[in-house]
Amino acid sequence: MSETIDSLLHEERRFPPSSDFTATSVATPALYEDAGKDRLAFWADQARELLEWSTPFTETLDWNNPPFARWFADGRLNVAYNCLDRHVLAGNGDRVAIHWEGEPGDSRSITYAELTREVMKAANALEALGIRRGDRVAIYLPMIPEAVIAMLAVARLGAIHSVVFGGFSAESLRSRIEDADAKLVITADGGWRKGKVFPLKNAVDSAIASQTDGTSTVEHVLVVRRGENDVDWTEGRDLWWHDVVDSAPDEHEAEPFEAENPLFILYTSGTTGKPKGILHTSGGYLTQCAYTHKNVFDLHPETDVFWCTADVGWVTGHSYVVYGPLANGATQLIYEGTPDTPHPGRWWELIEKYGVTILYTAPTAIRAFMKTGREYPQKFDLSSLRVLGSVGEPINPEAWIWYRDIIGGGRTPVVDTWWQTETGAIMVSALPGITSAKPGSAQVPLPGISVDVLDESGNRVGNGNGGLLVVTEPWPSMLRGIWGDPERFIETYWEKFDFEGSPNRRMYLAGDGARLDSDGDVWILGRVDDVMNVSGHRLSTMEIESALVSHPIVAEAAVVGASDDTTGQAVVAFVILRAKQAEAQTAAEAEALLKAQVAEQIGAIARPRRIFIVTELPKTRSGKIMRRLLRDVAEGREVGDTTTLADTQVMNVITDKLR
Ligand code: WT7
Repeated sequence: MSETIDSLLHEERRFPPSSDFTATSVATPALYEDAGKDRLAFWADQARELLEWSTPFTETLDWNNPPFARWFADGRLNVAYNCLDRHVLAGNGDRVAIHWEGEPGDSRSITYAELTREVMKAANALEALGIRRGDRVAIYLPMIPEAVIAMLAVARLGAIHSVVFGGFSAESLRSRIEDADAKLVITADGGWRKGKVFPLKNAVDSAIASQTDGTSTVEHVLVVRRGENDVDWTEGRDLWWHDVVDSAPDEHEAEPFEAENPLFILYTSGTTGKPKGILHTSGGYLTQCAYTHKNVFDLHPETDVFWCTADVGWVTGHSYVVYGPLANGATQLIYEGTPDTPHPGRWWELIEKYGVTILYTAPTAIRAFMKTGREYPQKFDLSSLRVLGSVGEPINPEAWIWYRDIIGGGRTPVVDTWWQTETGAIMVSALPGITSAKPGSAQVPLPGISVDVLDESGNRVGNGNGGLLVVTEPWPSMLRGIWGDPERFIETYWEKFDFEGSPNRRMYLAGDGARLDSDGDVWILGRVDDVMNVSGHRLSTMEIESALVSHPIVAEAAVVGASDDTTGQAVVAFVILRAKQAEAQTAAEAEALLKAQVAEQIGAIARPRRIFIVTELPKTRSGKIMRRLLRDVAEGREVGDTTTLADTQVMNVITDKLR
């Protein structure tokens, strides 16, 4: 690890913006100057400029009770109105909001006027089903326009959405429905993926049926027809979207809510087995989504076609498929399926077809395309592209250069954007018309954002050194808490750097390691906790371990993230079987069984790449599993220092067995 980091830090290539780009750049150096002069005044200006407030705010930030921040708290606005109606009222109703392409090749282009009407109908329908301000609505949908419509309809009513990625299992959905006491679930019969329909509704049925206390808070399940596959039906509870929404009135007045009205909960993996429900609110979140989407991607809404390839089930989809682009009145592309269906050039074909100008995707995808080869992108005209973005995990310089050269034709700026579910929007990134880009580094905090790198005791490490990444000042789109668990919110993020005697000097612990180079630019080194990053998705070692031990054949399990050429990290598990099972089964049978178990409990993204059946796990005298040693094994390295093990022979036993 440290070797690759050192070679990364010796990356000497620099890509200053071209004078053509700078000439029309949305962001100008004045942003840094203004934010540097008066950070809060800067954010207040952004909030006023980018959004329409029904009641203007007078106070920018209330940080009297840290870490519970209140931004623009006496202002009122409606989030959906800001994403829809106001663009129509400003005369842009005919602008396309969404070009949608289904995996089988069906497509729809939806203007702002049409999208506004659809959301109004959906809001009326939801209201008729009893959804009111503050109610929780779970959304479990494929990447179809109804996913965006559903989210905005919930937001329009001041209710709270909890979008659950369609690749998550019934069990994951159950725990999220239960944690948030969702009243309504919006799903589809199925969606298209890799040339086939994958079912969703049946997972909702079993999630509701298996709710632990036998009763469910879910009153209705609203089902979009997409896969045309058969579904079971519970009369009275289940309703078709086309029955309920299509016939609803297409006028709906948006009620303004206070800026701190909760907007959504999004679950993300932490260091324990239980996912955290990250809570975001309205005014501050929308301000920073709009601000970052505009400046980081150099958005010219009249001419650009933006494409963020993330699923709405992740925070990237919330902020850069739904809220950022729509608040800015942008035109965007949404694609339902996988990049290689029906052919490996599908993405590039879509870029040509829709004239996409800004592409925002993850390093995993880029590395996968590098493997399949440049001949696929080179079959299509990608000359419309002018800005490329990367998110989710560190992008290695090789992938960065390939992205710029092969996809961007050697012309386009590439912005590497660091942020998290918790931060709500981009925090650290180059600005394409201003920053001289450095492949592999996320570079600089955005104007208005303050980050630093500290050592374990809270001292600044300074340039040339590594440590823990922190955010030193509150920011508008910061998480407001963990749903139902204020203690965990404080413990996880705010306790480590709570500087005594100065209550408002609490700093936000991101959970990432980082280094500052000699220019002070930030290089993200990856998680410092028991969280893995697989294809830009966060997975918890503990959560996968508990999925494994919940299988009757397993006695004990340890999971590590091993580095992987394509996905960044991959899940590798070490499992001890119960004595009887160990005899009854071959290792290959057990491995197959347990891979399926994890996919079923959590979702296919968590399925381990390898499961090693072992007879011992390396533990310290206090019983803590030394994952570091298992990672050595998983990555095929010489095993490191074993002197702190209770039984120093254990690693020999494991490596002998696996040889
Ligand atoms: C974790 C957050 C933010 C949307 C996608 C993931 C890693 C994110 C970068 C980047 C290096 C990155 C961090 C972070 N990460 N962006 N540009 N360079 N690492 O959201 O699931 O909340 O995961 O993703 O480790 O903590 P998330």
